[in-house]
Amino acid sequence: MTTESRSAYVSDTEVRPTAVIVLAAGAGTRMKSRTPKILHTLGGLSMIGHSLSAARALNPQQLVAVVRHQRETVAAHITSHDPAVLLADQDDVSGTGRAVECGLEALAARGVSTNTGTIVVTYGDVPLLTPELLRDLVAEHHTTGSAATVLTTRLEDPTGYGRVLRSGDEVTGIVEQKDADEAQRQVKEINSGIYAFDAAALTEALAQVSTENAQGEKYLTDVLSIARSSGRRVSALVTEDRWQVEGANDRVQLQALGAELNRRTIFAAMRAGTTVIDPATTWIDTTVTLEEDTTLLPGTQLHGATHISRDAVIGPDTSLRDVTVGEGAQVIRTHATGASIGAGGAVGPFSYLRPGTVLGEDGKIGAFYETKNVTVGRGSKLSHLGYAGDTTIGEYTNIGCGNITANYDGENKHRTVIGSHVRTSSNTVFVAPVEIGDGAYTGAGAVVRKNVPPGALALSVAPQRNAEGWVQGKRPGSAAARAAEAAQNYDDDAPTATD
Ligand code: UD1
Ligand code: CA
Repeated sequence: MTTESRSAYVSDTEVRPTAVIVLAAGAGTRMKSRTPKILHTLGGLSMIGHSLSAARALNPQQLVAVVRHQRETVAAHITSHDPAVLLADQDDVSGTGRAVECGLEALAARGVSTNTGTIVVTYGDVPLLTPELLRDLVAEHHTTGSAATVLTTRLEDPTGYGRVLRSGDEVTGIVEQKDADEAQRQVKEINSGIYAFDAAALTEALAQVSTENAQGEKYLTDVLSIARSSGRRVSALVTEDRWQVEGANDRVQLQALGAELNRRTIFAAMRAGTTVIDPATTWIDTTVTLEEDTTLLPGTQLHGATHISRDAVIGPDTSLRDVTVGEGAQVIRTHATGASIGAGGAVGPFSYLRPGTVLGEDGKIGAFYETKNVTVGRGSKLSHLGYAGDTTIGEYTNIGCGNITANYDGENKHRTVIGSHVRTSSNTVFVAPVEIGDGAYTGAGAVVRKNVPPGALALSVAPQRNAEGWVQGKRPGSAAARAAEAAQNYDDDAPTATD
């Protein structure tokens, strides 16, 4: 069935499931990790985070996660991702069927009727599954009026998966690899483990599922043959996109899924108006947003809640996490976290922006600058070589080369407040807490310990004294002495401009 004909039958209210149950009780030992498998990340979210987000997009009355292995860690992570998720604990009976039963029990305990509507079941380790495919599954389930609709795909090597058994076109059941005979093992259509069920049929069939099989588990897959033998219809939606139903059991598979997810994210960004010069070295989390006519140069990594506005150019070799970049800004070879870069701003090359950095419109943070907790006003520039921490800078101020805010006295941090239209000379040190008034200047190498009034020039360096002839006296015969002598003779013979 095509997508158009499906949507013609199914209205939004019809597809709202009673519940989506996400199975997340399994162990996942092949990751070789202290971190639970489903907490490993790709594209900026954990595997379970992706699964829950896709499930949430169906707008179910309840979203349930079934947990058991490393229960506390997994439960805390799920709740931080989506506080409205109902947690269901699986007991000692193992198997996907038992897991779903535990989910249904938790729903009933919440007062949700598990005898009406549609129950969708999916896994915590299928990170590439999209809301669109889940919606297609639910729509197929409704239009066919089935008791159960399973999402399937065809694999060249189906080893390990449950095989879909058909009689003609009709699905008759699913047999696990370990329970399958030779002929059944030849079947290339596999069970993804993702289903839409009629709630009443699911509850009824689960009560009849036994643990009499090769693994001694309560199989969810048995629900299909049970429903069919009670005269109900069982259907399948076949997807060509195997990535969407693929899980990761080890770090090799996790990398492959992560690379494919990134490729999909980048292609979607390009179709939506972002120029990506080199997709192979560009990484974009699924949580990042980009406007039209943005450009990403090679080696760019965008993470978390980063947002890139129109006409901004990022890279090469730039990592941004939770950074907002304004219209037309340029960010070159920069590492930034928790920062905001104003429209028309310029950052880099080789800048390190730490949390709380707010660069105003048309402002600049240039080469080899580190900033933290800094607000820089419109048009102000910190162009080269310095550190600014816990600082407020007004508008159109120019901070000279090599300026440092000494914000830490060894025990506490203090603020530096610099006004508008200030000009600071090279190597100024601001010993915080200190304030520089509007339009003030500082001299080269000034160590500013006292407040500078508006319009004043702050000088703290002792006047220069030249010890004439010191080199010839103390370093006679050295190359420096000979050079000095030659210069003096030259000066004697040839009149200088001031003569
Ligand atoms: C299951 C299916 C199989 C399908 C395959 C797709 C059954 C009996 N078999 O097999 O047909 O091809 O998935 O990947 O359903 N889980 C629990 N509690 C449990 C057992 C599993 O929550 O007691 C969760 C796991 O965390 C995982 C999912 O269910 O997210 C699948 O479990 P897994 O052990 O990988 O299932 P398979 O035996 O591979
Ligand atoms: Ca599996």
